[in-house]
Amino acid sequence: MANLIIVGAQWGDEGKGKIVDLFADHFDIVARYQGGHNAGHTVIIGGRRYVLHLIPSGILHPQKMCAIGNGVVVDPVALKQEIEDLAAAGIDCKGRLYVSNRAHVIFEYHRLVEMGDEKRRGEQRIGTTNRGIGPAYEDKMGRRGLRVCDLLNPETLRLRLEENWQAKQSFLASMEDSWNVDEACEAVGALGKELSEYITDVGEFLNRSIDTGMSVLFEGAQGTLLDIDHGTYPFVSASNSTAGGACTGTGVSPTRIDGVVGISKAYTTRVGGGPFPTELLDDVGAQMRERGQEYGASTGRPRRCGWFDAAVVRYSCLINHLDSLVITKLDVLDELPGIQICTGYRYKGSLLRSFPPEIAVLDECRPEYIAVKGWNQKTAGIQDFHELPALAQDYLKRLSDLVKTDISIVSTGPDREETVIASRHSGLESWMPRFFDRFPR
Ligand code: GDP
Ligand code: IMO
Ligand code: MG
Repeated sequence: MANLIIVGAQWGDEGKGKIVDLFADHFDIVARYQGGHNAGHTVIIGGRRYVLHLIPSGILHPQKMCAIGNGVVVDPVALKQEIEDLAAAGIDCKGRLYVSNRAHVIFEYHRLVEMGDEKRRGEQRIGTTNRGIGPAYEDKMGRRGLRVCDLLNPETLRLRLEENWQAKQSFLASMEDSWNVDEACEAVGALGKELSEYITDVGEFLNRSIDTGMSVLFEGAQGTLLDIDHGTYPFVSASNSTAGGACTGTGVSPTRIDGVVGISKAYTTRVGGGPFPTELLDDVGAQMRERGQEYGASTGRPRRCGWFDAAVVRYSCLINHLDSLVITKLDVLDELPGIQICTGYRYKGSLLRSFPPEIAVLDECRPEYIAVKGWNQKTAGIQDFHELPALAQDYLKRLSDLVKTDISIVSTGPDREETVIASRHSGLESWMPRFFDRFPR
């Protein structure tokens, strides 16, 4: 059986949730490996809308198991809430959700630290989701974090919470009255007990499952350009959202992974601060935002919109060594008379050969564009590649050529059904059907 990683190839919100849901049928387990409830993955099935934050999108398939790996940072309050919300929607997590005992825990003080950090940054603020994600990872790397296993051990919990609380006192003087270690120990300890039926050694669970022939789909959150190492630092999230993160974030070795699929929109969006070379601050950007309903699934913030950036996606193909690409939201471009594609960046007169690490350079890069004609026809809901207007087919071929990667799937609407699986006859070399042929269910 095959194990596959799904990653965002841009700055997040590429439609990973929809595609993970689509692929989940072919796998036994869906596992998240990084990030936390900063993610917002929207899945629409038969017109019904589900938004997942912490729990893998595979949970919407009643027969599938889902895992939250050690690389994720877990807010127990948010996790409990999400389990309850799913239950209210008729989706039961019991017996099929596995939360790593090694995952780090987000506490209220992490969120408060984050608010302080962002305030101090002023104009240079990252525009975080204010979920405590960054400070929780800081504590993890600082080797003072609390892990899910600690929630089940009252002595460790109290000792470590007291230590952390003291360490943060000078930083958070204003919290003194609002945070009480005794109350926190009690509340978090109780949550730990409530969630204990889900807590396990996820690394062992996944490896043993693979040993018995089961397959795992790894669901990335955020996107390659938000990766702490490879993204547009410091305007990034705090984890490794790229393919390598799937291994460190679950305890499954790279030797057990069979492929990596990247998800990219037919254009580009970003939420929060930081460089965005192809950003459109005009009516066209506003039109994309409205047609694409580009508002954050977690925070409701409007997403910044711009043209497809081949420099970004080419870099993602490189860093993740993508086997294939899924292009989503093609339908959002349906009414544009003309479309531009960024082929690369010019900096101080020269074309850049690689993606620059410095923000100052990115800020000064001038995108090089090619202009193509819009198809001005409805693609929304189309399921067959040959029914796409010729100009839309050409657009997809150009994207594939520019990033030198096959396109396996094109999404033409938010619903599970609104999807084109590229076939070998489409002219887009399609890897996905062959992948599934090799590993039939
Ligand atoms: P994720 O974070 O990568 O899972 O993406 P989000 O769920 O945050 O954002 C993608 C949004 O686009 C969601 O609201 C999806 O329902 C929607 N979506 C996904 N694919 C398509 C598509 O092909 N066309 C349109 N119009 N919407 C899509
Ligand atoms: P999904 O999984 C888009 C962005 C935030 C901010 C930066 C850091 O739905 O694609 P953080 O709270 O993580 O410390 O914020 O990262 N960000 C996302 N942008 N989609 C996401 O997740 C994001 N998760 C974080 O807007 O710019
Ligand atoms: Mg999202």
